[in-house]
Amino acid sequence: MIQSIIDSHKNTISDLVKVGYSFLAEGSKRIAYLSPCGKHVIKIPINHIGIMENVCEANEWRKSNKEVLARCMMAIGYLLIMEYVDPVSGVLPQWCEEFDDQVGYNKKGKLVAYDYGC
Ligand SMILES: Nc1ncnc2c1ncn2[C@@H]1O[C@H](COP(=O)(O)OP(=O)(O)O)[C@@H](O)[C@H]1O
Ligand SMILES: [Mg+2]
Repeated sequence: MIQSIIDSHKNTISDLVKVGYSFLAEGSKRIAYLSPCGKHVIKIPINHIGIMENVCEANEWRKSNKEVLARCMMAIGYLLIMEYVDPVSGVLPQWCEEFDDQVGYNKKGKLVAYDYGC
């Protein structure tokens, strides 16, 4: 079941590329594709933890106070749509540690975390 979801994402990727999405980056659980407009990414799970992380992030976004989290929502097939943030490194505010410094600036210039799964 889980493997078939992961396998189906090979087709998802080629469909996304056909409509202008481009590969952005790969983590240990998810691959991010950037939308043609540059405003959002689609996070595609590459293993069962990635599926869980996408579900957790969507839930976290819904129930959190949203101050420091990138906006996101669940899509069909356990894909996650998330606002694009420009990742930053270097000296960061202390709250970023909670997210292993996986933070960046969104289009509004606000520093937010982009990897905040389980
Ligand atoms: N919202 C985003 N905006 C820009 N880049 C992102 C975003 N989300 C993820 N990425 C990029 O994709 C990579 C993998 O995503 P991440 O959420 O860290 O997945 P994993 O759970 O596999 O670590 C990140 O290291 C980052 O480079
Ligand atoms: Mg990560």
